Amino acid sequence: MSDLMEKKQRGAWSSKFGFIMAAVGSAVGLGNIWRFPYIAGTSGGALFLILYVVIVAVLGFAMLSLEFAIGRYKNANVVDAFRMEVRGKKVSPIGWLCMLTPFLIVSYYTVIGGWLVKYTVGYIAGGGMFDESNGTTANIFTNFIEDPLWSSVFTVIFLVMCLAVLIFGVKKGIEKVSKILMPALFFMLIFVAVVAVTMPNAGEGLKFLFVPDFGSVAENGGILNVLNNAMGQAFFSLSVGMGIAVTYGSYIKKDQNIPKNTLLVCVLDSLVAIIAGIAIMPAVFSAGLEPNKGAGLVFVSLPMVFKTLGNFGIVVAVLFFLLILFAAWTSAISILEVLIASVEEKTKLSRKASTLAVGAVILVTGIIVSLSQNPSIFGVDLLDLFDKITNKILLPLTSILICLFAVFKIGMKNIKQEFLLNSEATGLAKFWEFSVKYISPVLILFVFVMGLIFWNAT
Ligand code: PHE
Repeated sequence: MSDLMEKKQRGAWSSKFGFIMAAVGSAVGLGNIWRFPYIAGTSGGALFLILYVVIVAVLGFAMLSLEFAIGRYKNANVVDAFRMEVRGKKVSPIGWLCMLTPFLIVSYYTVIGGWLVKYTVGYIAGGGMFDESNGTTANIFTNFIEDPLWSSVFTVIFLVMCLAVLIFGVKKGIEKVSKILMPALFFMLIFVAVVAVTMPNAGEGLKFLFVPDFGSVAENGGILNVLNNAMGQAFFSLSVGMGIAVTYGSYIKKDQNIPKNTLLVCVLDSLVAIIAGIAIMPAVFSAGLEPNKGAGLVFVSLPMVFKTLGNFGIVVAVLFFLLILFAAWTSAISILEVLIASVEEKTKLSRKASTLAVGAVILVTGIIVSLSQNPSIFGVDLLDLFDKITNKILLPLTSILICLFAVFKIGMKNIKQEFLLNSEATGLAKFWEFSVKYISPVLILFVFVMGLIFWNAT
């Protein structure tokens, strides 16, 4: 039997829409909803937004389309896609980095996913996630995440939700589900945004987000730090620097236009982030709360806001948690796909067996991260630690290496040809090449160094 025949047929997206929804599903996640609105507000409002758009256009677009192009060019999982010869030996250090980062990220992403399942179910069951005895929401959240049994149970539920999709493969699993979840997320988000802007005092929240504020730039460590924030946010939000786009790119058919599709992903991802800001900040300000980000915003502040809306608040809460759950679900699926595709193709296990094998490993690490939320168990918050290691070290490092790989191992001529397949954007391709060779590596190096210097800043 020839080599070609022995090789298993790789998955492929069945349509442009399916691919875009899956890619947007990966990009739209917690970064858009719990991070972007706060960072934008505290980093200069409209000034940050303009900077962010420029960075997404110059850096985010270049890196994302580069990864898609590498994936399609190599038509392989990350370990094989980044294989190279060093002194006559075949090695894949970048490929293994692209396994390590998703492994660390998904180990904590499933924990947060579990919290989202818990809150969605809690609101659907009619609970307000509000402590009537002292009028707060914080202790409900803390008690839950520190409870070793229940927080682990919900971590496992979320992981099983992801595996249940992934087991069906690219077309019948990821693509099918993303085509439903992403439009649903979008409509729910619009609904919540309309509710938020009609709340009393909503203008304050919109001001926080959109009025240019030089003062907050100065307070936030000046323009360099704001630039750093914007780049870090763009990277995390577009899910670049960890092989997700290489893996998803390897399922794109040759008749697709990579520049156009990438542009669409960038626009939709930024749009969701901005609408999330409009859905969240006016509500927070209207309830007289301080703006916040991360778990504190979603699980503590917003439940306070929902409480002020009475029964209608429960409806809004269900929609809101459902939409974040959809965002986190499709993101976690994309991270797991990097691991599963590599295991499947490197071990010759079936799709089902590879999904279960990866699932079994993440089950263990997910539970460990979940347990670490109780300070008396390990004494170190692994969620926070994994988040920092990946964001501040692994993502920028891998991204620079991916640029170098494209330039020195694949060759810009080849990869540009892949980028331009079915596209007439030759002018754009010239700029893109310049960004991949010079602008992106230099700017990413800057993020890397800043991240190390400001290790403790969040
Ligand atoms: N891009 C996702 C977000 O904005 C996060 C993510 C990170 C997804 C890493 C996949 C991998 O939240």
